[in-house]
Amino acid sequence: MHPSPLRIGLLGCGVVGSGLVGLLGSRERAVTDAAGGPLRLSRIAVRHPSKQRDVDLTGVAIGDDPVAVADAEDVDILIELMGGLEEPLAAVRRALERGIPVITANKHLMSAHGPELEALAVAKGVALRHEASVGAVIPVLQSLDQGLRTERCSLLVGILNGTTNFILSTMEREGRDFSEALDAARTLGFAEADPSLDLSGADTAQKMTLLARRAFRTDVPHGSIPTEGIVGMEPEDLRDAERFGYVVKLLGIGQRLPEGLDLRVHPAFIPKRYLLAAVRDEYNAVYLRGDAAGSMLLYGKGAGALPTAQAVLGDLIAVARERRLCAANGTPPPAASAPGMPHREPEARLALDDVRTKVYLRLTVQDQAGVLAQITQRLGAAGVSVAQMFQEPFVRGEASITLLTHEARDRDVRDAVAAIAALPAVRRAPRSIRIFDR
Ligand SMILES: NC(=O)c1ccc[n+]([C@@H]2O[C@H](COP(=O)([O-])OP(=O)(O)OC[C@H]3O[C@@H](n4cnc5c(N)ncnc54)[C@H](OP(=O)(O)O)[C@@H]3O)[C@@H](O)[C@H]2O)c1
Repeated sequence: MHPSPLRIGLLGCGVVGSGLVGLLGSRERAVTDAAGGPLRLSRIAVRHPSKQRDVDLTGVAIGDDPVAVADAEDVDILIELMGGLEEPLAAVRRALERGIPVITANKHLMSAHGPELEALAVAKGVALRHEASVGAVIPVLQSLDQGLRTERCSLLVGILNGTTNFILSTMEREGRDFSEALDAARTLGFAEADPSLDLSGADTAQKMTLLARRAFRTDVPHGSIPTEGIVGMEPEDLRDAERFGYVVKLLGIGQRLPEGLDLRVHPAFIPKRYLLAAVRDEYNAVYLRGDAAGSMLLYGKGAGALPTAQAVLGDLIAVARERRLCAANGTPPPAASAPGMPHREPEARLALDDVRTKVYLRLTVQDQAGVLAQITQRLGAAGVSVAQMFQEPFVRGEASITLLTHEARDRDVRDAVAAIAALPAVRRAPRSIRIFDR
């Protein structure tokens, strides 16, 4: 005979919440077996309780107060899928304070308040899981927390945002400009009505914060990762990448260097032969290099109702099993429930100014004697040397010069680009994209 159901309080029944309710219904038997007993949705909180929803919520108490759900006597596990920051924070804190395990898909919440919430979870001896917050169904947090828990990661590179990856893939494949590719992403449901967090790189930076805390076992404050997005990307950038043997991707980069931990988010040229170069459209991937494990690539759908709900369901089953096991044995949950916590060492951070990087530069210049010499003089003065150069023929007195530099200090490259931009013969703001080929 099965034990009595574990009762779930769900905050949010939108894209992911509805996906989860659907999976709990359609896979009831498998879920019950995996969880060691039945799970029952007892309460949900949504912003509009009277809204018609295309999932079966028969027998579920529906309200609009997330904290009331976190506080309810008939909730054993809280699942937060409402998004936002302050409102989910209050509810998640409340549940943890009461000793109720929490599962969330909220990268913003965990990036901004993860360490505090994890400490609270440990103090209360309850689980706090958030696999779906990074790469949705890709089991990257689980891998870092379990199989790779004792690994020393030297490099982590992620394509962590499906919207921007779709836009860059469309521009590359179809030669479309940025706004056309964004429209295509919206039409296919790969971009939200307001995609600014995706396009600015902020979404990738929040996910990198979560990954870097685990991969490098160190504190990474929210908002501390230097971030650039893909707004302003031009089809010529992607065409030039192809010409030199690269593709353009928005990357989250974390590397342990002798000078310190290098964390950054920006678009980058990566060699076409890299596995990450083959990650296209809405797909996400995380490339990891560990001292013992060598290279690994985790790949899959990083968003969407069912891929995200599947990751939440995985966390739910793990929490339910753990809870039942501990109840049966009369023991507290294992420390692995709050996996980001142990063994954190402060790690020196390498400032972006001091990162050494190669760069692609595209300059639109006037047909004027000595312009190339002026450009190379500005680069040379900043200690930046040119590895490759390509010049288009002049058309109507203007030409495009494309350069790839050797490795130089990031700050020096930016200074040189600013000096080049100020030259009278340079017609428009130079395009500059870093190359990542480690
Ligand atoms: N969508 C994805 O592919 C994806 C992927 C990975 C992670 N996530 C994360 O998953 C979370 C949910 O995303 P989503 O796409 O499912 O969002 P969504 O479709 O906008 O749904 C949000 C849900 O939360 C409810 N809600 C919002 N504010 C509330 C409040 N103050 N009180 C009570 N209920 C409230 C809404 O109620 P109403 O329905 O009544 O408006 C809605 O049901 C977010 O943290 C997101 O970052 C999403």
